[in-house]
Amino acid sequence: MSKIPIILGIESSCDDTCAAILQGQKILSNIVANQDIHKIYGGVVPELASRAHQQNIIPVVDAAIKKANITKEDITAIAFTKGPGLLGSLLVGGSFSKSFAMGMDIPLIAVNHMKGHILSHFINEGKAMPKFPFLCLTVSGGHTQIVKIESPSKMKVIGTTIDDAAGEAFDKSAKILGLPYPGGPLIDQYAKNGNPHAFEFGKPKIKELNFSFSGLKTSILRLIQKGVTENPNFIAENLKDLCASIQHSIVSILLKKLEKAIQQTSITQIAIAGGVSANSCLRSKLKQLAKIKGYQLYIPKFEYCTDNAAMIAIAGYFKYLNKDLASQSETPLARLLF
Ligand code: KG4
Ligand code: ZN
Repeated sequence: MSKIPIILGIESSCDDTCAAILQGQKILSNIVANQDIHKIYGGVVPELASRAHQQNIIPVVDAAIKKANITKEDITAIAFTKGPGLLGSLLVGGSFSKSFAMGMDIPLIAVNHMKGHILSHFINEGKAMPKFPFLCLTVSGGHTQIVKIESPSKMKVIGTTIDDAAGEAFDKSAKILGLPYPGGPLIDQYAKNGNPHAFEFGKPKIKELNFSFSGLKTSILRLIQKGVTENPNFIAENLKDLCASIQHSIVSILLKKLEKAIQQTSITQIAIAGGVSANSCLRSKLKQLAKIKGYQLYIPKFEYCTDNAAMIAIAGYFKYLNKDLASQSETPLARLLF
């Protein structure tokens, strides 16, 4: 085998059990096992998630090794998500990774999930990669951040949500509309044939580069309650317009603050990451904006937007190069700080 390190990445912070193998920055395999069990509950049930991770982790790692066409002896180091996330879920990936590192006598690397989302832009698939420094709008089910990235190991959060995350705003709005979890992709789908200006919702007035989505959620709830009182078929008759208007509001909030960050920092290398970066409205609005303003825009492939282990492996690769290794006493942290 060549001297280029081969990193096995493990991601288990929420409800997807993921394993991926990278050789240097090149992807060899990327396996994701989704957990359908949560759909009927309208959200992730932590205990069920950790049990499903326990069942999935070994078959998923096995599939990643086979797909990469390597043997486990070829693996140079193992990187896992230390946090943030659901503790029971993180513990499954963390315990597996520690055992694997000990059993194979290879280095262990602890990765911050949010940094993984950002660094997924450095998985080499022939696409241009961001140049430092760049700004990343990281939007997921649990976080909404604007991050200034100076190097793979030097990043600073310059804006964050003071309440709900953007993905949560999508998912909670979907729940109000009676759509199953996760509602973000469904809102995106219905919105395609709806009028984004059909309904107006309250706009947050939050200082600096921070976000807030809880007021929007209340405003959506009130509008729908009022609509249903007047017409029991209000949601069914207006679903596409409601989805398009909700999506328009969330995307406008995100873009307003991102533009403010660009003005404040004068950085025009712009990236997006995290589950909500799969949203078609966000992607197309950003593309338009970048074209008009001359920003250099980096949009991840769909498979690297939502949770995956390739992003953990690439973050692990940079830490491996920096000799930033973890010990067997490393423990997952649900609220791991940036
Ligand atoms: O990054 P991710 O897979 O998991 C977390 O780290 O949270 O993000 C999941 C979030 C969910 O809230 C989901 O509804 C949202 O990303 N999402 C979307 C879309 N695809 C996923 N939101 C809006 N539009 C989409 N197309
Ligand atoms: Zn995520």
